[in-house]
Amino acid sequence: NPSLTPYEVIGEQRLSELVDSFYDKVRKHPLLKPIFPDDLTETARKQKQFLTQFLGGPPLYTEEHGHPMLRARHLAFPITPKRAHAWLNCMKEAMDEVGLEEEVREYFYNRLILTAQHMINTPDDDE
Ligand code: HEM
Repeated sequence: NPSLTPYEVIGEQRLSELVDSFYDKVRKHPLLKPIFPDDLTETARKQKQFLTQFLGGPPLYTEEHGHPMLRARHLAFPITPKRAHAWLNCMKEAMDEVGLEEEVREYFYNRLILTAQHMINTPDDDE
């Protein structure tokens, strides 16, 4: 159905599984682990809300937290090009696990690449 939003194509359940699988990888990643809180329950909850609206679903994030202002909210954390790459890789692996259809996966991943690039606020230490 061409009128479905990406959110509807993926579904609430699969989006939730994707985010859980993603933070499971983030938690273990040597470059990401140090900048995230030990308990990722709240982070995952917010990310589910954010990605729901990012993909055309209900504006759950904004209803609870206001305008996302994602770049500003990330300024407290040193987001290097390597960390952006690591973040995207964790997402790619999580996408493999939940099995997204090619078309919605391409669309979603390409938008995440753009957003991740926009979050970079610190050079890599070896630069
Ligand atoms: C929060 C890292 C990219 C969406 C956070 C937090 C960190 C982080 C450390 C704080 C976690 C917490 O205190 O709970 C990164 C890194 C990225 C990245 C290293 C690499 C580029 C992205 C992207 C998105 C995103 C691409 C959206 C597509 C969010 C959201 C939050 C968040 C929604 C919660 C904000 C809030 O506290 O309300 N991120 N992030 N992040 N990130 Fe990222």
